[in-house]
Parts: sequence; structure tokens; C-alpha cells
Amino acid sequence: MTTTEGSEFDVVVIGGGPAGYATALYGASAGLSIAVVERDKVGGTCLHRGCIPAKEFLETASVMRTVAGAKEFGVQAEQPTVDFSVSQGRKQKVVDILFKGLVGLMGSRGITTFSGSGELLPDRLVRVTGSDQTVEISGRHVVLATGSIPRTIPGFGVDARLVLTSDEVLSLNSPPGSVAIIGGGAIGCEFASMFADLGSQVTVLEALPTLLTGCDEDVVAVVARSFRKRGIAVHTGVKVTGHIPNGSGTTVNFGDGETVSVDTVIVSVGRRPLTAGLISEGTGVGVDERGFVIVDEYMRTGADGVWAAGDVVDTPQLAHVGFAEGMLVIKGILGEEAIPVEYGRVPWAIYCYPEVAFVGMTETQARETGLDVVVKKDPFGGNSRARIIGETDGLVKVVAEKRADGRAGKILGVHMVGPWVTEQLGQGYMAVNWEATPDEIAQFVQPHPTLSESFGETVQALTGRGLHLG
Ligand code: NAI
Repeated sequence: MTTTEGSEFDVVVIGGGPAGYATALYGASAGLSIAVVERDKVGGTCLHRGCIPAKEFLETASVMRTVAGAKEFGVQAEQPTVDFSVSQGRKQKVVDILFKGLVGLMGSRGITTFSGSGELLPDRLVRVTGSDQTVEISGRHVVLATGSIPRTIPGFGVDARLVLTSDEVLSLNSPPGSVAIIGGGAIGCEFASMFADLGSQVTVLEALPTLLTGCDEDVVAVVARSFRKRGIAVHTGVKVTGHIPNGSGTTVNFGDGETVSVDTVIVSVGRRPLTAGLISEGTGVGVDERGFVIVDEYMRTGADGVWAAGDVVDTPQLAHVGFAEGMLVIKGILGEEAIPVEYGRVPWAIYCYPEVAFVGMTETQARETGLDVVVKKDPFGGNSRARIIGETDGLVKVVAEKRADGRAGKILGVHMVGPWVTEQLGQGYMAVNWEATPDEIAQFVQPHPTLSESFGETVQALTGRGLHLG
């Protein structure tokens, strides 16, 4: 098969998720001719089976909590119940509108979309196998952005009834009466929080010693306390050994002969790169032992003109990291100055209740690196806006390098847990990435009363002279 006229592009992107569509949109903005090969729907996991639907359901959970707590404000409301078919409908509407917007945007930028599975052949040819035809297109550059799929574990075959992954959870018809969640990472904690608020009996089974490994210990402690208060059973440091179906549900075996009987099991033990059938022989693109496409800091693979971005490479599996990597690829293609993504300083946002958001080093990581640090923590209990909205669980923690004179120097990490912290991280992100010091940041005036004042307070205290915080 040969390429036909109109099938040569500056850039061919395989995969239309966040990394792929960001590459395409940014490249098209720069005047490059772009093709995107997608076998399902552009928007990828994030839009259709991940971030967007998950956060939409977490918003349903938030509305439930608000209505349930309305009496405290003198607002009389009945004890809320959820009609999940309406929640599903709303979620789908949100996804559909965003999907339509993305399709329209790609069209208006002149991006050509090919429907089918893309396979990279030598010399930057891409074979697209669609449902009714196979075509070959060629790119001056090819970007691999095929994303990732949920990992599973032995003994827990996904059947979409008893055992689910995030793919299936987001299309459930109703919340399960009881659910065991295997894995207490970002996905596990978001689902645990959401289902507990929607009335499910939730058990989390995590192999490592804590929930949310990688987050700051003080932040994890707040989430764990909130989960306990809301009746979520958390078992950490446990090995899950299998499950035995029992009538309508199943009994999960874990730890030293312990069991929990539930309606449903959710497996959220990480995601693995999706490269099956992606790379043919002789392309020069390397894949590591875990299936990730090997790239350098500029996202270049081992083959000239072939790049990779997003979950298919071994970097934080976050949509916004995919966006950043996609833009980096385009700058590289254009020969512009391209600054590699600093993976240790990307923002993280986890939407369980209470929310978690952070950037940079945790206190433990900083100390383990051999750095001497100064740390301040400001609990939301002392924040007036948090009192007003009735959400005082949480804190802001800032980790700064200790200077020779003992004062706080460069801000290394900002860690938040509490109300709307995913929307508050911006200042912390800037501070860490600009390598700012508390003395510099404390000059900025914070609006009052706001939740984001807590960041200002914490930084102010790090100057050695706090306002409310000592
Ligand atoms: P994860 O890697 O964050 O957490 C998986 C957890 O499962 C780990 O704590 C691990 O110790 C545990 N685990 C692994 N095998 C186990 C076993 N056999 N038994 C018990 N526990 C086991 O992965 P997760 O939560 O599935 O998320 C996948 C990716 O998507 C992550 O990279 C995550 O950062 C990203 N993501 C980010 C979100 C956010 O930032 N809001 C939301 C959802 C996903």
C-alpha cells in the first residue's frame, strides 16, 4: 500500500486524548498541517472515562453533602437521596458538550481526523486500520499518544458486574450498596469518597502503609481522618489474595485471613501504557520492560522525527502533564526553545473530599534529599471563610529550604488539603516554580475573607513574623 495524495502531514498524532489533542491544537495554532488518528472518540480517557466524568460524579457527592448539611444554616431540606440515573444523564451531558466543543475546535483549526487504530511503520508512515478500510498516511513527524489502560491484578478478572475498573465504574446505573476498593491511590480515594457520600458502605484495601502514597504525611492524615469519620473502612499494608463470588456479591480475602463481603469490587491499582499493536518492527522506537515508550526529556523517541507524549511515556499520568508534553513536542518540531517539563514540580490535584492539591517536595522527600528545611502549617480551622462555609478540615503546609542564617529560603513544596484546594494551588505552583522565597511572596496582599488567605498566612509565618499564625 502506498500513501495517497492528501495523506502527507507535518505531524501525524496517534491517539486523541489530552496529550494527542493538545499536540494537535498547539501544532495547528502554529500553522502545521496535522492529522489525528483515533479509534474511539477524541478526548480520550480524561474526557470519556476519567477526569471529567469522575469529577462530575464527585460534584454530585458534594451536592449531597451540602443538602445534608443545610439545616446547620437554617435551611430546611429533607434528607437527600440520589437518583443516579439523573446524575448519569447530567454527567453524560457535560461530557457530550465538551466532546462536541473539542471536535468543533479541531475542525476549525483544520485538523484532519482519521478514524481507526494507528500503527507506526518505518519511515514515519502510519497505517490506519478503520472498521471499513485501511489507509496509510505519512508525517514529517509522528507523535505517539495512545495513553494508558487500567492495570488489573491476578484473581480479579474484570467482568463489569462484580469486578470493575474506573472504565466501568463511571457507567454504573446506581451506586453499589457496598464496595471494596483495591488500591488507595488517587483513583481509589476519589471513588471511596464519592461512594461513601452517595451512601455506599466502602472498604479500601491498600498494599502500602498509607493511603495516597507520595502525598505529604500531614495531608494524608487529614484525608484518613475524614474517611474514618465518614465510616469508610481503610485497611493499609494488606495483601489482597482473591475473591469468592457469593450469590449476588463477592467475598474479598485480604491480610491474615480477613474477609469483606461486598456487592462490587473496584480495582484501582494504577494504569499501564497502551502500546499493543502500536509500533511495528524496524521503526527504531524503544519500549521499556513495563511497556512505556522510551523518550528523552524533549519527548524524542529513538527514531528520528518520532515523538511520544502523555500516559504512554513514564511520566506522571496526569492530563495536564500530557498537555505540557504535547506543547513541548510542537516546540521541538518547530525548532523553538523547548524547556523540558520539570516533573518534580507539576501540580497535583486529587478530588476526594477533602480535596488534595500539591506541588513540589513533601517534607519527608526534602529531608531524604539531605536538605535542611523550615516548615509551617496553617489549619483551615483558623480561616474565616472556611468557618463561614463550614468546612474546616484541612491545612496548608509550606516546606522551604533552611538558609544558613536559619531563616526560610526557597519554597520547595506547597501541600494543601481541604475545601476547594484544587482551585487554590495556583499561588503555590507559581511560588515553587519561580523558586520564590517567603520574603518575596509575603509581599503580596491576599483578599479577605478567602480560603486562599491560608497560603498567604503560612508564607507570612515562614518569614519569621506571622500575622495570625505563629
Ligand atoms: P496509583 O498508582 O495512584 O495508586 C494505586 C494504588 O494501588 C497504590 O497506592 C498501590 O500501592 C496500590 N496497589 C497496587 N497493587 C495493589 C494490590 N494488589 N493490592 C492493594 N493495593 C495495591 O494509581 P490509580 O489510583 O489507579 O491512578 C492511576 C493514575 O492516574 C495515577 O498515576 C494517578 O496519579 C492518575 N490519576 C490522577 C488523578 C488526579 O490527580 N486527580 C485522578 C485519577 C487518576
